Amino acid sequence: MQNFLVPFCVFVCFVRVSYQNPVNNVCTTFLDYYKNMIYNPNCYHNPDVYLSVPEIIKRYDYPLQTYQVTTNDGYILTVFRIPYVQNFLKRSIGPPVFLQHGIAQSSMVFVNIGRRSLAFTLADNGYDVWLGNFRGSVYSNKHKYLNGDNKTYWNFTFHENGVYDLPAQLNVVTKVTNQKIIYIGYSMGSTAYFVYNTQYPEIAKNTIRISISIAPVAFLKNVDKQIKFIIEGWCQLKNIHDKNGNGGIFRRTKGYIARRQRICLPYPVKMRFCLLSAYIFGLLDTAEEDPEILPVIVMQDQDAVAMKTVYHYVQLVRCGRFQQYDYRELNDEIYGTSAPPQYNLSNINVPNFFIRANRDSISTQKNVEETFKFLSDSAKPFDIFVVSSDAFRHGDFVTARDVRILVYEPILDFLEKNKNKFL
Ligand SMILES: *[C@@H]1O[C@H](CO)[C@@H](O)[C@H](O)[C@H]1NC(C)=O
Ligand SMILES: *[C@@H]1O[C@H](CO)[C@@H](O)[C@H](O)[C@H]1NC(C)=O
Ligand SMILES: *[C@@H]1O[C@H](CO)[C@@H](O)[C@H](O)[C@H]1NC(C)=O
Repeated sequence: MQNFLVPFCVFVCFVRVSYQNPVNNVCTTFLDYYKNMIYNPNCYHNPDVYLSVPEIIKRYDYPLQTYQVTTNDGYILTVFRIPYVQNFLKRSIGPPVFLQHGIAQSSMVFVNIGRRSLAFTLADNGYDVWLGNFRGSVYSNKHKYLNGDNKTYWNFTFHENGVYDLPAQLNVVTKVTNQKIIYIGYSMGSTAYFVYNTQYPEIAKNTIRISISIAPVAFLKNVDKQIKFIIEGWCQLKNIHDKNGNGGIFRRTKGYIARRQRICLPYPVKMRFCLLSAYIFGLLDTAEEDPEILPVIVMQDQDAVAMKTVYHYVQLVRCGRFQQYDYRELNDEIYGTSAPPQYNLSNINVPNFFIRANRDSISTQKNVEETFKFLSDSAKPFDIFVVSSDAFRHGDFVTARDVRILVYEPILDFLEKNKNKFL
C-alpha cells in the first residue's frame, strides 16, 4: 500500500506545484497559450504582469525617484521620475518630459510594454522622464481627510485633473529641475492639459515648452457610430447630470486584482473576454495585439475612474461642445449661468503637436481637426501627425506591438528636429 502511495503522492504533489502559478506565464504566440504552457519553451514568466510601476522601472534597471504632492483641494498624488540613464554618455541630461495618462489608467500605461514603453524610450534618449498619476488611481488614492469609500472623494472630472492635479504635479517638476517642461498627454491626459492651459494661461506659459497630445480629446461630437449608439442607450438608464458623481469604479483593491486574475488569465480567450468593452468601443485592434504583452495589458492597464468623469465625457459627446460639467438646473447656483462655461481653446498659448490615428474611434479625424481649428495660429506651429497604420486605434497608443516605431520614434524625431524652436 505504501509503495503505491509514494508514487501517487509524488504525482499529485508535482501536479499541484506545477499548477500553482500557471497564470504567471506569458507566451510568444497565441497558439502557445493552448499548448502545455508550463514546459513550453515559448512561454516564460513575465513578472510585469503583477509588478507596480516603481517595481517595473527598477526591474528594467532605470533609476527611480518618487515625489508626493498635495493638491489645493487635498488630494495626495504620487509623481514618479526616471531622472537619468547611467549609460547615457553622449549628451547631458535632457529636458524634463512629463507624461500624463488617460481615463481609467495610471502611469502604468507608460511602462507596460517592456523596454519599448514610452517612458523607457524617452529615458534611453536622454530625457528626464516624469510620470503623473491623476487622483483616484492606485498611486494617488489618498486625501488629507476624505476616505476613498466616501462618494465625496470621487466628486471630480477631468476638470479637477486640469485645475488641481496638473498644477500640483507640474509644480514639483519645475521646482526640482528649474526648467520648462515638455508635456505629453495621452487621451484624457490631453483633455486635462487643455483645461489647465485655458484656465491658467499665464502659469502654463511659464511652465510648459510644448504640449504633445497623443490621441487628443476635446471636441467629441464626431465619435464613431457604435460609441454614440451605446451612449444613447446608456443615457436612458443613467442620470448623466448627477451632481455628486455617484462614486468610483475599478479601484485596484487586492480583491479586484484577484478576481481579475481568475476571470482574465491565462488563456487568450479569457483575456479577450476581459477586454470586450475595448473591442466593442473600437479601442483596440487584434492586428496590433502582442501575445507576450496581452496579459500585462489585461492585468495592469485598468485603474479607477470616477463615474462623474464618464458622465462629463458623455455630455461632451451629446452636446458637441468642449465645456465644463453640466449640472442642468443647478448650473445657475454653481456657475452663475444657466449653461456650463466653455473651455475657450483659443486662449491656449503654448505650442501644440497633435498625434492621431485614422481608425481611432474617439479622437477621430473630425474631432481632432475641430479641436485643432480652435487653437490660435501661434499655438499650432506643427501639422497634425497621422499614424501610418490602418490598424491603429485609440488604445493602441500605449499597447500596440508596433507603437515604438509608429509613434514613439516619430516623437523623438520631432523633439530632436525642433529642439532649437522650443528646447
Ligand atoms: C464623507 O466626507 C464628508 C466630508 O468630510 C463627511 O461630511 C461625510 O460624513 C463623509 N461620508 C461618509 C459616508 O463617511
Ligand atoms: C459635488 O460637487 C458639486 C459641485 O461642486 C456640489 O454641488 C456637490 O454638493 C458635491 N457633492 C458631494 C457629495 O460632495
Ligand atoms: C475665446 O477667446 C478669444 C480670444 O481670447 C475671444 O476672442 C473669444 O471671443 C472667446 N470665445 C468665447 C466663446 O468666449
